[in-house]
Amino acid sequence: MSQFQQNVELIQSEVVAAGIVRLTLNAPDIAAAAVPGQFVMVQTAPGLDPLLRRPFSIHQVSSEGLLQILFKVVGRGTERLAQCRAGEQLSLLGPLGNGFVLGESCNACLVGGGMGIAPMLFLASRFLQQSHSGVTPRVILGARNGEELVPLMGDFLDLGIEVLAATDDGSFGHHGLVTDVLKTLNLTSQSTVYSCGPKPMMGAIHHLCQKENIPCQVSVETVMACGMGACLGCAVPLKAGGYAHACSDGPVFEAGELLWSL
Ligand SMILES: Cc1cc2nc3c(=O)[nH]c(=O)nc-3n(C[C@H](O)[C@H](O)[C@H](O)COP(=O)(O)OP(=O)(O)OC[C@H]3O[C@@H](n4cnc5c(N)ncnc54)[C@H](O)[C@@H]3O)c2cc1C
Ligand code: FES
Repeated sequence: MSQFQQNVELIQSEVVAAGIVRLTLNAPDIAAAAVPGQFVMVQTAPGLDPLLRRPFSIHQVSSEGLLQILFKVVGRGTERLAQCRAGEQLSLLGPLGNGFVLGESCNACLVGGGMGIAPMLFLASRFLQQSHSGVTPRVILGARNGEELVPLMGDFLDLGIEVLAATDDGSFGHHGLVTDVLKTLNLTSQSTVYSCGPKPMMGAIHHLCQKENIPCQVSVETVMACGMGACLGCAVPLKAGGYAHACSDGPVFEAGELLWSL
C-alpha cells in the first residue's frame, strides 16, 4: 500500500457552517492511492506548536488529484488549519489505515453522525463508481441541528443520492437519532451498514445491526499521535480480548470485532 509524506498546496478553504471548514488540497499521489475510510495526518503549523500531526478522514478525492478534508474547529490544531489560505503549503502523510470494504451488497446504508459525515462522501462516490446496476447507497446523516447538517447534505444530493436526516433538536429532518431512521429502512442480512460518528451512535448502530444480523463496519476515532502503529496511543479494546491499533488495524473495523460498552 503506497503512502506519501508531501508538502501540498492548499487550493481552497471554505467555511461550510459555523466552525466547520473544508480544505481542498492538490495532493495527486495521496488522492490516487486513497480508498474511502482512510485518513491523512496533517501538520497544522510549520513550527513545533502544535508538535503532533492531526488525523482527518479523507472527505473526497477527484480524478484531477484534489483531496478534501472536512473538520470542526475544536482546538489549537484545527484553529490553525482554519486560518490557512489558498496558496499555502501543508505537510500531509497518507493515505493511512484500512478503509471500508465495499462488498457486493447492493443494499448499502451509510450512516454519518457529526464530523463522521466526512468520510461518507468519498464512500458514497466510490459506491456509485462501482455500481453496475445503477443501485445507489442510502445515506443517513445526523447532526445537532439543521444549521450544521444542511450545508453538508448538498454534496450527497449533487451525486443524486437521497439523504435521510436526523437532528438532535428537530430543526431539520427526523427529530431524534439516526438509529430511529435506520430502523425504518427494513435492512436485512443482505444489506451492509457503514458508519462513522460519535462512539455512542456507533455502539447503538452495532447493537441494532447485531440483533437483526446485518453486517456493519464502523470507523473509530481515537487520539492519535503517530498514525502509523508506532506510539501505541490509539488502542481500542477487542471483543476477543486484547487491543487493536485504530491507526494501522483500523480505523475501520467490523463492528462485532470491537468491545462496546453502553
Ligand atoms: C482517524 C481519524 C479521523 C478523523 N477525522 C476527522 C474528520 O474528518 N473531521 C474532524 O473534524 N475530525 C476528525 N477527527 C478528529 C480530529 O483529529 C480532532 O478533532 C483533531 O485532532 C483535534 O485537533 P486540535 O489540535 O484542534 O484539538 P486538540 O487541542 O488536540 O483537542 C481539542 C479537544 O478535542 C478533543 N479531541 C482531540 N482529538 C480527538 C479525537 N480524535 N476524537 C475526539 N476528540 C478529540 C480533545 O480531547 C480536546 O478536548 C479524526 C480523528 C481520527 C482518529
Ligand atoms: S497513533 Fe500511534 S500507534 Fe496508532
